[in-house]
Amino acid sequence: LVQALGRRSIVLVGIMGCGKSTVGKRLAHRLGLEFVDADSEIERAANMTVSEIFAEHGEDYFRSGEERVIARLLREGPQVLATGGGAFMSEATRAAITEQGLSIWLKVDLETAMARVRRRATRPLLQNPDPEMTMRKLLAEREPVYARAAMTVRSRDVPHEAVVDQIVLTLA
Ligand code: S3P
Repeated sequence: LVQALGRRSIVLVGIMGCGKSTVGKRLAHRLGLEFVDADSEIERAANMTVSEIFAEHGEDYFRSGEERVIARLLREGPQVLATGGGAFMSEATRAAITEQGLSIWLKVDLETAMARVRRRATRPLLQNPDPEMTMRKLLAEREPVYARAAMTVRSRDVPHEAVVDQIVLTLA
C-alpha cells in the first residue's frame, strides 16, 4: 500500500471534531509514515496559534497561509496529513490534493462532531454564543465539497481504531 502511494500523501479532510488528528496519527503509525498536522505547521510558521492568527489578522489571512502550508507539505510526501476543517473548501488546495495526494473524508454527524469539539475550546469559528448552529451551517455548506474526496469513511459512533482499520482495509 505505501509503495502504491508513491510520493502521494494520504490527506484527511472533514469537519472540526471528525477525528482527523487522532485517526491520522494512528494511521501513520500503522503504515509507517510520518504524521503531519497542517494547523500545527501553520502555527509553527506564523509562531502564533490559529486563534491568534484569526484574531489579529482575520480568516482570509489564515486561509492564504493554510493554502501555502498545505501546498508545501504535499511536496514533502508521502505522509499522512491532517488538514483543518476549512482547507478542502479552497479550490487550489483541492486541486493540489487531488494531484499529489489521496483524500479521505472522515464523515461524522453533527452530534458526534459537537461532542468532540466541546472538549477543546480552541476553535475560533466556534467562539460564539451558538456554536451548534455554526457547526450545522458549516456542515451543510461543506458536506457537498467533502464528498468530492477520493474516499469517504463514516466515523460515527465508531472508535477511531475501527476507522483506521477501515481505511487500511479499503486501501489494501
Ligand atoms: C477550521 C478548522 C480548524 C482550524 C481553524 C478553522 C474550519 O481545524 O483550521 O480553526 O474552518 O473548520 P480542525 O478541523 O482541525 O479543528
